[in-house]
Amino acid sequence: MHGWLVREFGGPERMLWTTLPDPVPGPRQLLVRVHGSGINFAETRMRAGTYGGQALPFVMGMESSGVVEAVGASVRGFAVGQRVFGRARGSHAELVLFDAEHTLAVPEKLDMTEAAAIPVGWLTAWHALITVADVQPGARVLIEAIGSSVGSAALQIAKWRGAWVAGTASRDDKAARGREAGADAGYNYKTEDVAAAAHRDTAGHGIDIGLMTIGEETATSLFDAMAAEGRIVMYGSTGGRQVCFNLNIGTRNLSLQSMSISTSARFLPETMRTFRDVALPLFARGVFKAPVDATLPMARLVEAHAMVDARTHFGKIVLLND
Ligand SMILES: NC(=O)c1ccc[n+]([C@@H]2O[C@H](COP(=O)([O-])OP(=O)(O)OC[C@H]3O[C@@H](n4cnc5c(N)ncnc54)[C@H](OP(=O)(O)O)[C@@H]3O)[C@@H](O)[C@H]2O)c1
Repeated sequence: MHGWLVREFGGPERMLWTTLPDPVPGPRQLLVRVHGSGINFAETRMRAGTYGGQALPFVMGMESSGVVEAVGASVRGFAVGQRVFGRARGSHAELVLFDAEHTLAVPEKLDMTEAAAIPVGWLTAWHALITVADVQPGARVLIEAIGSSVGSAALQIAKWRGAWVAGTASRDDKAARGREAGADAGYNYKTEDVAAAAHRDTAGHGIDIGLMTIGEETATSLFDAMAAEGRIVMYGSTGGRQVCFNLNIGTRNLSLQSMSISTSARFLPETMRTFRDVALPLFARGVFKAPVDATLPMARLVEAHAMVDARTHFGKIVLLND
C-alpha cells in the first residue's frame, strides 16, 4: 500500500507518499481501506516535531472513514465489508488499522466523506461539552476559533443542547460563517473587545462555559467574558503553550479545567458510549452535519497543510483516496 510517511521532522516537504508494507491487524484491530481522512491542526505539529510523544518514523493522519478488509480474532460487532469511521493513527494512507474500541459504524444515511470529517473534531467537542461541561439548556457558551474543526462541531452540539452560543474568529468572514451556521453571535477577536461584546449580548450576565483553545492572545478576554461561577474548558494550545493570567479569577469563582481525549479515563466509557448512542442517530437524522470545507485527493496533503496554515477554512478539510 501507499501512505504519507514522515522520516524526519520539518516542513511539508518531509511528508513523502511512498510504498509501505500492508498493516496486519492484531486481535483487537480492524484493517480498513481508507475512503477519506480528515486533516487536523495537531498533524502540522506532528510533522514539525513539536507534538509531545511523537516518535519517528510515522504515517500521517489521525482519523478516517473506510471499509473493513479484515477483522482481528477478538473483535466482535464488525464484519468485512462494513463501513466504519474513527480515530486511527496512520490514516493518510490506502490502508490503516483501527482499534476496535475506537471504531464506529457509519450510519446508513451518512456519507463516507462526511464520516471522515467527524471523528477527532466531533469527539473532542462532544467530550468537552457533554462529558466534561454537561452543558444545559440556556447556558451561555463561548467557542474560541469557531471555524476550527473542533469549534464548528462544538457549535452544533451546544445549539442542539439548547445553549446560547457565541463564537470567535480572526476574520470577519469566519465570524459571519459561524453566525450563518447557527451561532447567536460571532466576534472577530482581532478587532473587537470580545469580553465587552459577550457581556453586552448576554444582558450583562457573561459566559457560563468557555471553550479555550487559542492561548495567550485571547486568554484575558476569555476570562473577562466569563460570568461568575463560569467554567472554562481548555482543550487546545493552538497559538502556543504559555499563558499568563491573573489569579483574580478566584474572586469570580471561575473554574479552569483542561482535557485531552487521548488521555482522559472518561473518554472510552463515557464519550465514546454516548457518542455512539446519542450523536450517531442525530447524524443519521440530519440534525448534525459535519461541515466539510474542502475535499482534496490524498496526493495533495501538502496543499491541505497550507490551507490549515492559511486559517481560512470553516470545518474540515478531507483527503480522499481514488
Ligand atoms: N484536547 C484534545 O483532546 C484535542 C483534540 C483535538 C484537537 N485538539 C486541539 O484543538 C485545537 C483545534 O484543532 P482543529 O484541528 O480543530 O484546528 P483547525 O481546524 O486547524 O483550526 C485551528 C484554528 O485555530 C485558530 N488559531 C488561533 N491562533 C492560531 C495560531 N497561532 N495558529 C494557527 N491557528 C490559530 C485559527 O482560527 P482563527 O484564525 O479564526 O482564530 C485556526 O483556523 C488544536 O490546538 C488541537 O491540537 C485538542
